[in-house]
Amino acid sequence: MKFCIENFGCQMNDHDTEKMVHLLLSKGMERIQDVNRADIVIVNTCCIREKAEQKFYSLMGRLRKIKRKKGTILGVTGCIAQQEKDGIGEKLPFIDFSLGPSSIHRLGEAVDCAIAGERHLFDFSNNGCIDSLLIKPGTRRGKIKAYITIMKGCNNFCSYCVVPYVRGREVSRNSSDILQEIENLALLGVKEVTLLGQNVNSYNKARDDLPFPDLLRCINDIDSIERIRFITSHPKDMSLELIECFGSLSKLCESIHLPFQAGSDRILKLMNRGYTIEEYRKKISLLRERCRDIAITADCIVGFPGESEEDFAGTLNLVEDIRFDGLFSFAYSPRKNTVAATLPGSIPREIALERLAHLQKIQKAITLEHNRAMEGKITEVLVEDWSKNSKEEVTGRTRTNKIVNFKGSSGMLGGFIDVEIVKGYANSLKGEVRKPIGGHTC
Ligand code: SAH
Ligand code: SF4
Ligand code: F3S
Repeated sequence: MKFCIENFGCQMNDHDTEKMVHLLLSKGMERIQDVNRADIVIVNTCCIREKAEQKFYSLMGRLRKIKRKKGTILGVTGCIAQQEKDGIGEKLPFIDFSLGPSSIHRLGEAVDCAIAGERHLFDFSNNGCIDSLLIKPGTRRGKIKAYITIMKGCNNFCSYCVVPYVRGREVSRNSSDILQEIENLALLGVKEVTLLGQNVNSYNKARDDLPFPDLLRCINDIDSIERIRFITSHPKDMSLELIECFGSLSKLCESIHLPFQAGSDRILKLMNRGYTIEEYRKKISLLRERCRDIAITADCIVGFPGESEEDFAGTLNLVEDIRFDGLFSFAYSPRKNTVAATLPGSIPREIALERLAHLQKIQKAITLEHNRAMEGKITEVLVEDWSKNSKEEVTGRTRTNKIVNFKGSSGMLGGFIDVEIVKGYANSLKGEVRKPIGGHTC
C-alpha cells in the first residue's frame, strides 16, 4: 500500500512525521508524495495560530473529494487531533482515524483498523503517555543531520499558547537512551544532531538524571558527531551553566534560538513568561561575552491584547538593540482554552498587521546587514545536498546555522568544506571554494 503524510507545524511535528514514516515503512508500505495516488493519507496537524487550522480544514476539503473518488483512507494526527478529541469525528465525519501526538506509537493499529473498515478515534486522555517519545525513527545510511527528541510537552502555560494543552505536561527522556540513540546515529554517518523539545533547557529539571548541560557534555564526547544544536530554549531556563557551554564545548554550534515574545515588561507579565526585558538582555550579553560570534534568533508576537504603541515601541527597541540574526514574528492569534483569549483590549487585526509589517521591515534590514558582514570571511559549511536553484551548486549550513550555496561536486556531499562567503542575501549566503595557490593541498 502507498501512503502520503502531509505535515504542518514545528520541528516536533516534523520529527513525529519521520517517526510515523518509519512505522509505516516497517509495515511494508511505500511512501509517496502525491495525495492523488496514495491509498492512505495522514495529515499531521498544527493549531498554534488560526491560520494553521484554516490550512488544515481547507486541505481536508480537498482530501474529502479524493476519498469520494478513490476510497482513500484518511487519518488525522498531531495537535488539532488532540485539541478536538472525539469532536473531530463530528467535524470531519469522513475521516477513518485520528490520534493525538502522545498516541502515534499506535499508528499501525489505527491503519489496520481503517483497512478492516473500522473507524477509530483513539483515546485522547493519555496525553502524558511517554510511549510515543520512545519511538526511534529509522535512519538511512548516509543521512547527515538528525533530530533527537529529548523531552516533550510544556509546563509553562504562556497565556497565549495552546502547546501545554495539546502536547501535555513536560516529560524528559532518559539520558542513557538519548546517548545510545546518538551513538547509533553516529555509526550510521550522522554528523549533526539537533536536540528537540518545546523547552529543551528545562530537560530533566524535576528528575534525578543528567541535567541539560551535562547531557550536552556527554554528546560532545561522542566520536564522529561534529555538530550539536538544540531547540527551543526558554529565557527563564537559560542558566549560567548552560551559557558557559557555548565556547567551551567544541561541537556545540555558535547559534541559539531564544524567543523573547515581547519587548515590554507589562506584556511579558500578561503573557506569563517569567522574565523581564532586563533579564533577557543580560542573558544575551552573557552569551555574546562567552561566544563573540554566536548567531541569535528569536520569536515574538505583536498585537497581544492590550499592547499599546509604547509596548510595541519596546519590541522595536529590543530588536534594534540586540540585532538578531533572524526573527520569526507573528500577529497574535487567540487560541481555544488559553487565558489570553479572555483578556480585554484586543487589538484590531489591521493594527496588528501594520505593526508586524513595520517590525519585519526593520528586521529584514538587520538580517541582511548580518549576512553582508560575512562577505570575505572563510567559514566551515556542512554540505547537505544539491541546491534546488542550480544544478552546479551544493547547499549546506554554517555552524551559525546560515544557509550557504556554492559551486561544488558530489564528492562534497556530507563533508565539511571551508568556503569563502562572497555575497550575503536576505535569506542565504553565496560562497566560493578557494583553491590553494598552485593547486597544492598543504
Ligand atoms: N516552545 C517554543 C515555541 C512554541 S510555538 C517556545 O516556547 O519558545 C512557536 C512560536 O509561535 C512561539 O514562540 C510564539 O512566538 C508563537 N505563538 C505561539 N502561540 C501564538 C499565538 N497564539 N499567536 C501568535 N503567535 C503564537
Ligand atoms: Fe508555548 Fe510558552 Fe510552552 Fe513555548 S514555553 S510551548 S510558548 S507555553
Ligand atoms: Fe503546532 Fe503543535 Fe508544534 S500546535 S507549533 S505542531 S506543538
